[in-house]
Amino acid sequence: MSLPHLSALVLAVLALGACASEEENQTTAAPECSAKLKWAGGNSGNPMMNPGMDCVACHKKEGEGPLFVAAGTVFGKFDEVDLCEGKSGITVEITDKTGKVFSATTNEAGNFFVNASAGSIAMPYTAKVKAGGKERAMVSPQSNGSCNSCHTKTGGATGAPGRIVIPGV
Ligand code: HEC
Ligand code: HEC
Repeated sequence: MSLPHLSALVLAVLALGACASEEENQTTAAPECSAKLKWAGGNSGNPMMNPGMDCVACHKKEGEGPLFVAAGTVFGKFDEVDLCEGKSGITVEITDKTGKVFSATTNEAGNFFVNASAGSIAMPYTAKVKAGGKERAMVSPQSNGSCNSCHTKTGGATGAPGRIVIPGV
């Protein structure tokens, strides 16, 4: 192998290494969570950070973190407490007022997000969660892209049935 090729390879490997450590999930044992694990990385920027919490409001308030037009967390049960690990590999589909569909998949922590670069969501929107050929839909149209602001452990005053959960629960 010629030298230029070799150095290109070394650079590629270094880049991969940096990426993997940046996005590593940071969890600790948590018997109160159905996954028995919860986020332990505080507010360090990470796609797996703070599952269950209001992503959009905090990023706005702190003036840090990416701007999301929609974000939230999908869990295995309705009354999961903040920071518990959610369900990975679940598709979340948001259909805006004009019929445009924004799709996202949950990561290891159950978090999903649509970056502002995808364009703005024409309000109001509807949403559904899909997995294994089944789906669970939100019929009432909403105008706030921060799903976890309503989908808290109890849903509270917003009338939401607690967390966003996987189909079939
Ligand atoms: C209490 C505040 C807070 C909450 C809640 C929060 N974040 Fe963050 N987030 C931050 C801050 C602050 C940063 C920037 C930190 C940095 O640059 O180190 C950040 C950065 C990020 C990043 C960029 C990571 C990177 O590699 O640069 C992603 C992705 C992210 N957050 C996703 C989320 C998601 C998804 C949620 C909701 C489930 C969420 N955040 C909830 C404060 C928060
Ligand atoms: C302003 C509050 C609010 C926001 C924001 C919100 N929801 Fe909801 N959600 C509700 C309410 C209220 C219900 C129950 C009524 C219904 O199903 O339409 C619900 C129900 C659901 C359901 C069906 C629950 C079930 O088990 O029947 C899903 C799935 C859902 N929401 C997903 C989402 C997603 C994804 C987002 C973000 C893109 C989101 N929601 C944002 C209030 C909200």
